[in-house]
Amino acid sequence: MQRINIALDGPAGAGKSTVAKRMADKLGYIYIDTGAMYRALTWKALQVQVDVHDEQQLVALLNNCEIRLEPGENGQKVYVDDEDVTNPIREREVTNQVSFVASHEAVRLEMLRLQRELAKERGVVMDGRDIGTHVLPTAEIKIFLSASIQERAERRFLELQQKGEQITLAELEEEIKKRDEIDSQRKTAPLRKAEDAVEIDSTGLSIEQVVQQIVTLVQQKLGGE
Ligand code: DC
Repeated sequence: MQRINIALDGPAGAGKSTVAKRMADKLGYIYIDTGAMYRALTWKALQVQVDVHDEQQLVALLNNCEIRLEPGENGQKVYVDDEDVTNPIREREVTNQVSFVASHEAVRLEMLRLQRELAKERGVVMDGRDIGTHVLPTAEIKIFLSASIQERAERRFLELQQKGEQITLAELEEEIKKRDEIDSQRKTAPLRKAEDAVEIDSTGLSIEQVVQQIVTLVQQKLGGE
C-alpha cells in the first residue's frame, strides 16, 4: 500500500504526541516527535550553560551533538549522543526555556534539515508546530489539533500530579499561554494552521475519538487514489 506522510501541528498540550503515537502504531508508520528534538537541544544547552538566547552558540552545539529518536517499549526514547534524555527533557526547566531555543532561525533551519531527512522514506507521523507549513508542506494529511486552554492545562495538571510535581492549575495555564505566545509570534515558522490542514478541536473528545477522525481521513485519502 502507498505510504503517506501525516503532519500533526497545534498548540502545547493539545494531545498531539499521544494521538500521533497511536496513529503511527495503527498504520505501522514511524512517529517523529519534533518537539523532543528542540527539547533535547535545550536540555544540552542548560547542561553546558549555553545561553538559550545565543543563536550561534546553539547552532554550534546542535552541530556538535547527535540527537536521536528511537522507538522504545513505552514510547519513543530520546538520546543526546549516548545519553538517554527521555525523562529529563520533560522537566519544567526545559519546558519553560524550549520556546526561546526554538525561536532562532538558524536553529530551525538545521532542525528542518534533520527532520526532512528522518521523513525521506515516507510513512511518518510527525508532530510539531510547523510541520504542515514548513517541514513537510506536501504531507498528504495535515491536522491542526487544538483544545481550549482550560482543558489543555487540566490534562497537563493531571500528568504532573501523577509525577508528584507541585504546581497549581493557574500557574500551569499561564506557562502554557506564554509558550503558545512565543511559538505563535516568532518570525521563523511560527505555530500556524496550514491552509490545507483539517482542524480538530479535541475539547471534550477522547484520544480514541480524535484518532478515529484521523483514521477516517487516512482511509478517504488512500481509498480515493
Ligand atoms: O511539542 P512540545 O511541547 O514538546 O514542543 C516543545 C517546544 O518546541 C514548543 O514550545 C515549540 C517548539 N517546537 C517548535 O517550535 N517546532 C516544532 N516543530 C516542534 C516544537
